[in-house]
Amino acid sequence: MTLTTTSGSRAALVAAAVAITAGAVVLAPAAADAATTLGASAAQSGRYFGTAVSAGKLSDSTYVNILNREFDMVTAENEMKMDATEPNPGQFSYGNADRIVNHAVARGMRVRGHALAWHQQQPGWMQSMEGSALRQAMLNHVTQVATHYRGKIYAWDVVNEAFADGSSGARRDSNLQRTGNDWIEAAFRAARAADPGAKLCYNDYNTDDWSHAKTQAVYRMVQDFKARGVPIDCVGLQSHFNAASPVPGNYQTTLQNFADLGVDVQITELDIEGSGSAQADAFGRVTRACLAVTRCTGITVWGIRDTDSWRASGTPLLFDGSGNKKAAYTSVLDALNGGGTTPPDESDGCTVAASVNAWNTGFVATVRVTAGSAAINAWTVTFALPTGTTVTGTWNAERSGDSGTVQWKNTTYNGNVAAGQSVEFGFQGTGSSAGLSPTCVSS
Ligand code: XIL
Repeated sequence: MTLTTTSGSRAALVAAAVAITAGAVVLAPAAADAATTLGASAAQSGRYFGTAVSAGKLSDSTYVNILNREFDMVTAENEMKMDATEPNPGQFSYGNADRIVNHAVARGMRVRGHALAWHQQQPGWMQSMEGSALRQAMLNHVTQVATHYRGKIYAWDVVNEAFADGSSGARRDSNLQRTGNDWIEAAFRAARAADPGAKLCYNDYNTDDWSHAKTQAVYRMVQDFKARGVPIDCVGLQSHFNAASPVPGNYQTTLQNFADLGVDVQITELDIEGSGSAQADAFGRVTRACLAVTRCTGITVWGIRDTDSWRASGTPLLFDGSGNKKAAYTSVLDALNGGGTTPPDESDGCTVAASVNAWNTGFVATVRVTAGSAAINAWTVTFALPTGTTVTGTWNAERSGDSGTVQWKNTTYNGNVAAGQSVEFGFQGTGSSAGLSPTCVSS
């Protein structure tokens, strides 16, 4: 007899607020203690909440009031880019960037540096360079700028947007890439030498969906850097979303998989085009995904008011043009304070199927565990065995119990299952094998 069943499940994360009573004194429930700004709410879990800042807007009082009230991390929207900081070869210009850094440091905010090397927003003189002269100019730029800000930068986007879109999984063609495939690691080593205290990040967009070739390609680069000791500490996901590029169902899986390489993960340029509850829900989902991943250390939105955005027509930010809080703001704040739930990643987790060969007094079950569209690192399969059935042997898994509810976990060599791939284990039992219906959970 052969019986095959399939099911998948993944525990939902539930945050509970607990009211404490002590004698006649009723303390306020946790919700009443919730922090009331983005920065303070994120800080409750040791994270930061940042925004992109434009030096030219530091004289706008509405803008500055929101900045100072809500945020505890800033990124210069354009002022630290290569064209701004080195307008002529070897001549550095830090005025606007310093204005932003000084504003932040004076108020106890931290700074993300953005960006040391990028194919865009290069000064004109660099755009026309190639080969070893460009490599040398790029390394000098990294060294000079990282040295100027040594000790003041929490994390640097050392290299920005170096991978191609689409299905190739290749590096993006650019003058920097043409200097040799090792240009990225060379930039990271120069940045580490110049500012050993800054976290060094690789930052990109369209790296949010775990199944996309670009995401996989960046993942493999980071894995390779970690394996070879290239200094990298974090991966930035820009996370620019809209209807054509929505928050993917496996976003949390992507964050977790990068984190599992031993790097921090940061959401570095978040904006989500849209309005009302759909936009608010998407912002909440992104926030909860970060909170669910221990090494997701913070979120930065790419501007303050919709009118400040680089894509203002999509109203993608948390404050309207007048500086009022939008529904999206409330959704993020609530999520930071532990509210809201997100369904598990759609394509995440594992499924399990058992085929059973039975005889009069016993059976052998062959059990197949299959990862969804995301890789898994560990799995647990649970069977509720019929009364009177006893497990007498197991292979390729670790078993707890021998009757009733019995669990099999992966053993040391078969916990990692690539997306869509399967592993098998088996067990032998005495008694009935009727109605077996296993479930699978993974991480
Ligand atoms: C954008 C700025 O917001 C604009 O003001 C500028 O004109 C172009 O660059 N990815 C990045 C950011 O890493 O630096 C970009 O910022 C947005 C996309």
